[in-house]
Amino acid sequence: MVVCVPGPRKRVLTGIKPTGYAHIGNYFGMIRPAIEMSKNQNLECFYFIADYHALTTLNNANEMKEYLYDIACTWLACGLDPDKIVFYKQSDIPEVFELNWILSNVTPKGLMNRAHAYKAVVENNQQNGQDLDFGINMGLYNYPILMAADILLFNTNLVPVGLDQKQHIEIARDIAHYFNKKYGEVFVLPEEYIKEEQLLVGLDGRKMSKSYQNTIKLFGTEDELKKSINRIVTDSRLPGEPKDVDCTVNKLYKMFASSEQAKDFEKRLQLGMGWGDAKKELFETMNGYIAPMREKFIYYQNHKQEVDELLKNGAKKAREIAKDCLKRVREAIGTE
Ligand code: TRP
Repeated sequence: MVVCVPGPRKRVLTGIKPTGYAHIGNYFGMIRPAIEMSKNQNLECFYFIADYHALTTLNNANEMKEYLYDIACTWLACGLDPDKIVFYKQSDIPEVFELNWILSNVTPKGLMNRAHAYKAVVENNQQNGQDLDFGINMGLYNYPILMAADILLFNTNLVPVGLDQKQHIEIARDIAHYFNKKYGEVFVLPEEYIKEEQLLVGLDGRKMSKSYQNTIKLFGTEDELKKSINRIVTDSRLPGEPKDVDCTVNKLYKMFASSEQAKDFEKRLQLGMGWGDAKKELFETMNGYIAPMREKFIYYQNHKQEVDELLKNGAKKAREIAKDCLKRVREAIGTE
């Protein structure tokens, strides 16, 4: 367990891609655990917005801005303390992109051919009888190298990510190894920290995920929240008929309620509480949980200059470390 690492502080780093509005699956799966981790004295946390990674799929300035602020305001609203951690925007750290190029030159092309995200697109093209390179830009192809640069530039020990990112961390470790072998021990070898998958169900009962379009926006308006909850798929059991406690409404309720509340809710479902009443109560409970954070979110959305400043300050702190690392890299390769 990472939570009680003895000895010197471990450096933890993770990136969040601004490709959509945060939903409650992101909150329980990533945001809340990361914020908890950032309160651990034994860990030194670097959390950043991976805006240049988002470029592989996002190519509209307004959307980019919108999602950037959505992420930044979300993390601040959820309790991230920018004084305790280093919180910044990837694009504010030019050293990342210099390192990206340097690392490209120790990375075998074959390693990139085997990256899951790239391979998935190729396979999809194959199935559709399309040119294998269709829709693939070099950003997608080089994605894992940029990610390695993000990680290695800060002498990262641990990278908390979801299972889908495991291969990327392995690649970063491989790249660090190739570099060290060629030029000497410059990079720390990072390790992935895979959190227990906190599976949150979506509106249709499958895992909540943007790709299934079954998400509930974390900081939508009360009205949007209500509408989302009304879309939760239920069976056709009538009021008075006992409900299956394995239903989505109950699963979601549990995430937001105290264990006592949850027990009581479950009992009433079994006794035949109607779906309408159950959803109403789910709304009240969820909204009660989210409302104080939503207020902060709205505050930051209305004070974007403050957010900009926090991010700039974070970038300043990050760049001090980045510059130091890059200097050692440049010495190792002979350009400094
Ligand atoms: N690829 C990650 C994702 O899609 C985001 C990311 C970019 C990242 N750089 C990183 C995660 C560095 C961890 C470390 O979720």
